[in-house]
Amino acid sequence: MLLLVSCGLFFPYSGSPDSPRPKRVFMQHTTRTFHNLQGQVESRDSGLWINGFDYTGIQHLTPSIPEINDSIRTHCQNDRPFCGYPWFLPLKFLCRKSWYLPAPEVSPSSPVEFRLLSREETSWGSIKMTFSAKGPSHMYLCLVPHRGANLSTWSFGDGTPRFDQNREYVIFYSHGLNSTTWTFWFEIQPPRDPGPEGMISVAISSHYFFGEDQRTAQLEEILRRFPTWAFPSSWVSTYDMYRY
Ligand SMILES: *[C@@H]1O[C@H](CO)[C@@H](O)[C@H](O)[C@H]1NC(C)=O
Ligand SMILES: *[C@@H]1O[C@H](CO)[C@@H](O)[C@H](O)[C@H]1NC(C)=O
Ligand SMILES: *[C@@H]1O[C@H](CO)[C@@H](O)[C@H](O)[C@H]1NC(C)=O
Repeated sequence: MLLLVSCGLFFPYSGSPDSPRPKRVFMQHTTRTFHNLQGQVESRDSGLWINGFDYTGIQHLTPSIPEINDSIRTHCQNDRPFCGYPWFLPLKFLCRKSWYLPAPEVSPSSPVEFRLLSREETSWGSIKMTFSAKGPSHMYLCLVPHRGANLSTWSFGDGTPRFDQNREYVIFYSHGLNSTTWTFWFEIQPPRDPGPEGMISVAISSHYFFGEDQRTAQLEEILRRFPTWAFPSSWVSTYDMYRY
């Protein structure tokens, strides 16, 4: 048995064109920015955020790429929308494990411009907040009202907010090349006794899937070292979180 295992007969992946068994990996070069209730940047970091989509995680990659190992394992930050990471697919139930390797900041040519355009109190006691966002072709918006606060209506769909299994309100926005600025609004019932964390967390993540903006020197360098049986998908993302 030991002999078979050491000969690699039980190795789960193969890069052979006849019977490919690829190891799928998502690798996003990401800069994350977290704002506090006063609108100031509370923290900012950058790294290669890595998801290995099966039970073996990254264990078979580590021999080829030693810096991808369990010392950079990351965990869901439950007080942050999307766990604090730029999910592309809302798959966080499938992938409980991910890794975050420190890297320099990303600098896409058209960074996301996210703005709170107005904040008005309505005569029925809720607060209507209107935003604009300009960014790449694929963006995710995630809204998480804090305890005691409720979203009552918004500019999406039929106007009735609906949350996912995780009680997060997720909007996927995709546009073509020449699009106008995205504007949207929601109305929120503020909590009766507001806590220090404010009434809502809003995160916007952007995904640069093609062109110059998709690549960075750090991604190129690490991609070169992936084994032939690995099938990494890589791109640049940003994640910006705001609290109101
Ligand atoms: C694990 O990764 C860290 C950070 O990238 C690196 O400093 C360390 O040398 C790696 N450990 C091994 C055993 O390769
Ligand atoms: C789209 O934008 C490009 C570059 O800004 C411009 O050259 C082109 O005319 C635009 N196309 C349309 C249909 O507006
Ligand atoms: C928000 O909804 C919850 C559950 O329906 C309710 O208990 C709470 O009072 C609501 N809060 C406000 C501010 O309306």
